[in-house]
Amino acid sequence: MSGFPQWPDHEAVLIRTGARSGLPVVIAMHSSVLGPFAGGCRIWRYPRWQDGLEDALRLSAAMTAKFAAAGLARGGGKSVVAMPEGYELTPAAKRAILLDVGDAIESLDGRYATGPDVGTSPQDMVVIGEQTSHVFCKPAEEGGSGDSSPATAEGSVAALSAIGAWLDGGDSPRLDGLRVAVVGLGSVGARIAALLSEAGAELVLSDIDAAKKAVADRLGARWCEDPHEALTADVDVVVPAALGGVLTEEIVPELRCRAIAGPANNQLAVPQVADALHERGIAWVPDYIASAGGVIHAITVELDKRTEEEALLRVRGIEDTVAGLLQSADDRGVALAVVAEEMVRARLGAR
Ligand code: PHE
Repeated sequence: MSGFPQWPDHEAVLIRTGARSGLPVVIAMHSSVLGPFAGGCRIWRYPRWQDGLEDALRLSAAMTAKFAAAGLARGGGKSVVAMPEGYELTPAAKRAILLDVGDAIESLDGRYATGPDVGTSPQDMVVIGEQTSHVFCKPAEEGGSGDSSPATAEGSVAALSAIGAWLDGGDSPRLDGLRVAVVGLGSVGARIAALLSEAGAELVLSDIDAAKKAVADRLGARWCEDPHEALTADVDVVVPAALGGVLTEEIVPELRCRAIAGPANNQLAVPQVADALHERGIAWVPDYIASAGGVIHAITVELDKRTEEEALLRVRGIEDTVAGLLQSADDRGVALAVVAEEMVRARLGAR
């Protein structure tokens, strides 16, 4: 479900050339079985624009699973603006792109709403919002629910608590003393590291940006220059918190962790990696479950008009979801991904 569709099963894909930026704006709409399409806006560099299209197809399918697993009445969508390698993203170019995205969203008459993703911020949602009202996560002073990354981090930590209990063979969630490698220290990854450090976890941290070593120094964590070293570190849990595709067939035999759960979207390079991980006895919590905190928060606050406290409670519900999945995967002797996918299919009415 979260892997690349060999034959896409999307309801529709909109591809437009941005009138201002001249760049391709792709909006992939996967499944509206549960509700109108929603999903973040990614602005990223790709070798070919078709790679951006592929990313949008994959990411929107993962959003369908994310909403279904979280029990939210939305369908999977995603917008991607593909920049060529070496493209200089000046503030003016960024603004042009965001307005182009706003126009494309507006042309869909409310069928799709966006939010922040890699390469976009709550402030950028305000610019998209100049062209369309179908946008989540504008800053609070602009009437939105603000940055979704703290909630995404909370959700991932909730998943990790369930894993802590499972590793102990008990029911009580545990982070204290858990040995965790966080790979990627962007807004979500750095936050996860801070929450884990507060809770007494032992941390290994890494990022492709060497300046992020400051985060490790501040938290008294071990720093790895090379993300591969952190991924393959001798820890209890690995948390992928950067771009997707890190779990490759090649890396599986090198892994030394017992579980993997993190906020990066589309972690598996190919779907078969889920089976390979299971065969090695490594529990992989699908990204669409561990990364759902952000959308759960945005939708609970903006659509359901609930309080921050209620949103946080729902985000923390990811712990129970993961605990239940770990339990049934163990009982049945199958990969957690299999149980999770069955749950998603059931909620989608086994389409
Ligand atoms: N980047 C978010 C995700 O992948 C997208 C998002 C956040 C969409 C908040 C809507 C609201 O889940």
